[in-house]
Amino acid sequence: MKNEFYNKLIENNKEWVKSRLAEDDQFFSRLEKQQAPPLLWIGCSDSRVPANQIIGADPGEVFVHRNIANVVVHSDMNLLSVMDYSVNVLKVKHIIVCGHYGCGGVKAAMGTQNIGIIDNWIRHIRDVYRFHKRELDAIENDNVRFDRLVELNVKEQVGNVVKTSIVQKAWENGQELHVHGWVYGLKDGLIKDLDLTISDNNEVDEVFRLEF
Ligand code: CO
Repeated sequence: MKNEFYNKLIENNKEWVKSRLAEDDQFFSRLEKQQAPPLLWIGCSDSRVPANQIIGADPGEVFVHRNIANVVVHSDMNLLSVMDYSVNVLKVKHIIVCGHYGCGGVKAAMGTQNIGIIDNWIRHIRDVYRFHKRELDAIENDNVRFDRLVELNVKEQVGNVVKTSIVQKAWENGQELHVHGWVYGLKDGLIKDLDLTISDNNEVDEVFRLEF
């Protein structure tokens, strides 16, 4: 097949293997045996926000779930399976919800344009807008309002992570687990910690607190 970009991918892979082995000849044989990542990353599918690269993490260090606009939906079996496996089997100590400024999914949720199937997915972000409508509508500058909705979306999704029985049961059992909210800046590559960290059932809104 004549496609330069496509053909290059396998070549790139071979180069990558070579350079990894040059640094550490046990690299693959060690990872083959087991994975023990300390963190679960829930991020946006956006190609500009690759989980491992932006935090300087190697293969084996981050368990990853990504979807459009880093949304945590309590009936999403894909996400719940990732969370269950990473918390209960891999015993990750951190779950990081990482949104990003300039997120196309969040932007779409601020407008009224019909796009397609994705309209149904970003309904979840319209809900975030609805919860914070007064604050958001009071922001006159469109870009500032957009940035704020990105942050509020991360906050909402951190809240959704801790509403799950998976996380609450882990805490109930005394497992160490911290849930954090971050926003990545496309402009400068820097991560902003929103200081939303939740590490305990006592911090969960009592409406959503489960008894075990
Ligand atoms: Co995005």
